[in-house]
Amino acid sequence: MQMPNDAEERSAATIAARFDPERLPAAFFADPYPTYAALQAHDSVHRCPDGTYFLTRYADLDAIYRDRSHFCSDKKAIFAPKFGSDSPLYAHHTTSLVFNDPPYHTRVRRQIVGALSPAAIKAMTPGLGALIERLCDAIEAKGRFDVIADFAAAIPVEVIGNLLGVPRDERGALRGWSLSILGALDPALSAEALERGNRSVNEFLDFTRTLVAERRRRLRGDDDLLSRLIRDETGGEPLSESELLHNCIFLLNAGHETTTNLIGNGLRLFLDDAAARGRLREEPALIATAVEECLRCESPNQLGNRLVVAPVELGGRVLPAGTYLTLCIGAANRDPAEFKDPSTFDIGREPNRHLAFAAGSHACAGMSVARLEGQMAIAGFLRRFPRARLTEGARRNQRARFRGFQSLPAAVE
Ligand code: HEM
Repeated sequence: MQMPNDAEERSAATIAARFDPERLPAAFFADPYPTYAALQAHDSVHRCPDGTYFLTRYADLDAIYRDRSHFCSDKKAIFAPKFGSDSPLYAHHTTSLVFNDPPYHTRVRRQIVGALSPAAIKAMTPGLGALIERLCDAIEAKGRFDVIADFAAAIPVEVIGNLLGVPRDERGALRGWSLSILGALDPALSAEALERGNRSVNEFLDFTRTLVAERRRRLRGDDDLLSRLIRDETGGEPLSESELLHNCIFLLNAGHETTTNLIGNGLRLFLDDAAARGRLREEPALIATAVEECLRCESPNQLGNRLVVAPVELGGRVLPAGTYLTLCIGAANRDPAEFKDPSTFDIGREPNRHLAFAAGSHACAGMSVARLEGQMAIAGFLRRFPRARLTEGARRNQRARFRGFQSLPAAVE
């Protein structure tokens, strides 16, 4: 490894000192990793201009995710000024399990984890395989295509739509709503994005209300997630109508853009790396570790948050209760203190204890679904198109939290 010289060190220290997640330059979205490395080396517990802290070291994140005595997930104090406490976005995000603590979080999580049973996940496999083949047929017929629109984005909407039993011809609006609602979580929020996010919550609520009412009239079997949530098999306090609706919306959103980005970012890593493609062709069983490596190298969810609830020492200073933290998963997953050659895409990497699904009590409840989708989609595509190549015009989305592409043109002739 080449050591940085003095000028590079000074420049990295300046990048770290000036870092402001609310004012990110365009180059950051193309490649945030030099900025993350500068923060990690020079200011791993970085105080942002708005008084919040931005953390980049693996060991800090791993410890914080598992520590419920000093940190919580409740975002009411931060979302009230950001969204307005009577706004649809505020109601939605503060009712989602992910931004709550026990006992509410435990109650909702138990229901979701119970309903997302291994049997429900296994039942997806044949339909998912057939969908991937259909998408590949269409790509083959086109020759030139967009990895995102024609492949990556088409898979999660089907999977999560099937899990919740959303009629196929009503799925068209889901992706747009999801992008607007989750997009509102980015550190910088424009008035237009706020308006779009609020409108999307209202439209999505109307849609989900009708879906739930119809399902209540005709409950389905055990592999239907929504029927299981409605039946409430946990024996605890049942979810209110509003809690059920908001958490169904959260589920539809949680599995959407993140998994699209896993497949899109993963295929981009492979299409850029002929040696990795060759290695997977020789050893197809490597797809499991390969997908973990995609999750590590280009984490679909780059940022998480926690609130300090009891004074805690971090990076040599004591942070008081009420301090808001941004946990940079994308940086932690490339921390050289945890990962050897962190910038290298090594599809056989083991161990690979990445934090792409976070850790601790809020660790992603859908990780088995995401892994299944990622493995089947990436392996299926590369098997079918061993000579696929990227063409001009890739466009990254301009988001700090959810890292992915708007468009990734490619060809399979
Ligand atoms: C590659 C795809 C995915 C990634 C990278 C991802 C990442 C994450 C992360 C980092 C969290 C923790 C958030 C926090 O506490 O700050 C989370 C939570 C969650 N995810 Fe995922 N996720 C993915 C796919 C899915 C899918 C497919 C589903 C549903 C089928 C899902 C459902 C959930 C749920 C319900 C939670 C909340 C868990 C809780 O708060 O206890 N995710 N996810």
